[in-house]
Amino acid sequence: MAALREALPLTTISRTEVAIVGAGPSGLLLSRLLHRAGIDNVVLERRSAEYVLGRVRAGVLEKGTVALLDEAGVGERCRREGFLHEGIGIAFDGARHRIDFQALAESAVTIYGQTEVTRDLMAALSADGPAPRYEAEVIGIEDFDGDSPLVHYREAGETRTLRCAFVAGCDGSHGKSRESVPGRAYTAYERAYPFGWLGVLSETPPVSDELIYANHERGFALCSMRSHHLSRYYVQCSLDDHVEDWPDERFWDELRRRIDPEAAEALVTGPAIEKSIAPLRSFVAEPMRFGRLLLAGDAAHIVPPTGAKGLNLAAADIRFLAEALIEHYREKSDAALDAYSERCLKRVWKAERFSWWMTSLLHLFPETGAFGRKIQVAELDYLIGSRAAATALAENYVGLNFD
Ligand code: FAD
Ligand code: PHB
Repeated sequence: MAALREALPLTTISRTEVAIVGAGPSGLLLSRLLHRAGIDNVVLERRSAEYVLGRVRAGVLEKGTVALLDEAGVGERCRREGFLHEGIGIAFDGARHRIDFQALAESAVTIYGQTEVTRDLMAALSADGPAPRYEAEVIGIEDFDGDSPLVHYREAGETRTLRCAFVAGCDGSHGKSRESVPGRAYTAYERAYPFGWLGVLSETPPVSDELIYANHERGFALCSMRSHHLSRYYVQCSLDDHVEDWPDERFWDELRRRIDPEAAEALVTGPAIEKSIAPLRSFVAEPMRFGRLLLAGDAAHIVPPTGAKGLNLAAADIRFLAEALIEHYREKSDAALDAYSERCLKRVWKAERFSWWMTSLLHLFPETGAFGRKIQVAELDYLIGSRAAATALAENYVGLNFD
């Protein structure tokens, strides 16, 4: 640790209360909540603002996430333009069945893209401050065991240092925050899945009013949306596949084969305006706090996207982290900071379980075989026929209550 500090030319040193690493949804939301509470903070992001906005990711927001956007003063457009969905379709064996969230869990989700959440946060921060520092890459974090951590970063060709009271590690799964913690200080729990998702964004009307999750012997498929004229579709693909292996024609043909006949008939195709492949992974680092370095969002945990939990978990961490930091500054109490890791992880593990279960139920695994396939179909049959089983899905999908 000390070696890094000594090796660096001490050019510019500045100071803030909370240094936030990463300007994904976690970092921007935390910055905004702290700013509104009068807590000085700086966000450092290695990419440009355009690059961050170009990443197409999640699309389903739980009620608690929308409420947190409201608290941050950025929920207005989401409430106006987002779609309230009171159910999803589950397709298998040539038919589609509805899981009714309203009837089973008295709740609903909002369809509103992560890109739009990020855009709203960026707009609020640039109007009201503090403006995130883009193209500022964190290269090392030191002294988080003491009262005055140092964050070293590279910006405009210069190495600079930010001295702070706390570091929020919101820099995703390949960031510098967790990497700065000695491996022996945390336990990593991990499961990699033997497939990926090929995602396509197209300027076509969505195939259905609600999302369709399809289990098929050729593999999983998902029909989602961003608006009345923007659709998001996914098919399970091999980890060896490249985007170039999937010209639009092949993608649409494969999707059509995996979804129910009614949806296949209604599907409107068009040129892909974005196409990408994401591997699926479950990962948790325990604990999430190391002295004055606190991890949040993908920096601490990853879920496969099947349960639509990644962004929602990140928002839940940020709610707890903002509360804990505000309590530290306002009430001079560290009780919530001390409870941060445990509070987050309770929710994280429930979402990990749900995402793993949805993934196992809906995907084709190399080892599935004829027996495994029969078991999957039996479980799906049970799910749509049992109010208890459907309620368990609905409760988890719309988001569990906060303790
Ligand atoms: P991120 O959004 O990853 O943000 C981290 C930020 O930190 C990035 O902007 C990164 O550039 C920055 N950063 C990294 N290293 C440094 C550094 N050294 N210095 C400064 N900045 C740094 N979830 C769903 O629910 N549904 C989905 O369909 C879905 N699809 C996904 C597809 C992909 C390819 C990925 C990667 C994730 C997907 N997720 C999905 C998960 C969801 O998008 C994440 O859970 C969410 O983005 C977490 O937000 P975050 O702010 O914690 O991390
Ligand atoms: C999406 O719209 O991108 C999306 C929706 C639901 C998921 C995953 C991704 O489970």
